[in-house]
Amino acid sequence: MNTSADLDFATTGFVHEKVDPKMDLFEEIRRLKVKKNAVILAHFYQDSDIQDVADYIGDSLGLAQQAEKTKADLIVFAGVHFMAETARLLNPNKKVVMPDFRAGCSLADSCPPADFKRFKEAHPNHLVISYINCQAAIKALSDIICTSSNAVQIVNSIPKETPIIFAPDKNLGAYVAKKTGRDLVLWNGSCMVHEIFSQQKIAQLKIRNPDAVIIAHPECEEAVLKMAEFIGSTTALLKFTKENKAHAFIVATESGILHQMQKDSPNKTFIPAPPDNNCACNDCPHMKLNTLEKLYLCMKHEKPEVLIQDDIREDALRPLKRMLEISKQLGL
Ligand code: 13P
Ligand code: SF4
Repeated sequence: MNTSADLDFATTGFVHEKVDPKMDLFEEIRRLKVKKNAVILAHFYQDSDIQDVADYIGDSLGLAQQAEKTKADLIVFAGVHFMAETARLLNPNKKVVMPDFRAGCSLADSCPPADFKRFKEAHPNHLVISYINCQAAIKALSDIICTSSNAVQIVNSIPKETPIIFAPDKNLGAYVAKKTGRDLVLWNGSCMVHEIFSQQKIAQLKIRNPDAVIIAHPECEEAVLKMAEFIGSTTALLKFTKENKAHAFIVATESGILHQMQKDSPNKTFIPAPPDNNCACNDCPHMKLNTLEKLYLCMKHEKPEVLIQDDIREDALRPLKRMLEISKQLGL
């Protein structure tokens, strides 16, 4: 059960303590890592400073796989709540902390457990495949979890005659349905960052940069995906930009990934796909709640801690384990 202190962190977010502005945070974080036998797992959408101090940076599947095999005593999760929750599900006896407890996810929020339970009941005999971007309570109502890097393979692993509910991302669901030729029952959820890209502005950008290759995350809407030469998870997008011969890329996903793309390919140009408003950024406001300072404070105080409700732990872990097993069998 969540303690009252953790419920409080849902409002306050992190330990509020003045940090000496002269402190070398990178050095302090490294010192705490050794002292506490901690591992820092960070998603590609984190600030570049956090990516640079992390032990592992990856997509949701990679992060879950790292969480599953870590020998560290303390898991410091620089990402959003459902990711840290996943790490905790896989490590019931370890402490999992995150820099800012308020770092949620619009996609996970678009699928409230009570509503989803009713949706599931309205579709009896359906197998439930849920995207990892959901609350533990949704995982507990699911048969298998998937991520953007294995969703197609996971759906393909299910016999053709089995009807499937795919939740919560309707865009990823539609993409998977198209790739697999399956008729999936979709939950109507979406990501606020990936839904905001403007098809028109991307087209204009392509006219001005004809040699640039458009790449996109499958959480984007179909109209944007149709323009993309390559579609994949953050890890797949990064790999593609490294291996592809093109010198410029228009990137339709959260802007944090550009840091690793630029690091891996310093001589290539990465252009963030423009959103459908006047904001020049594609930042996920949840991911960007985490800062280096908050990362330091959460390691120092080992708070806020991510906890799972006792009554859903086992049911939420089962479909997650199933995904990790299938991924292993498929060499993903
Ligand atoms: P991946 O890193 O798994 O591609 O997911 C992107 C995302 O939106 C994470 O919140
Ligand atoms: Fe959620 Fe979208 Fe942010 Fe990913 S980018 S954490 S899916 S809101």
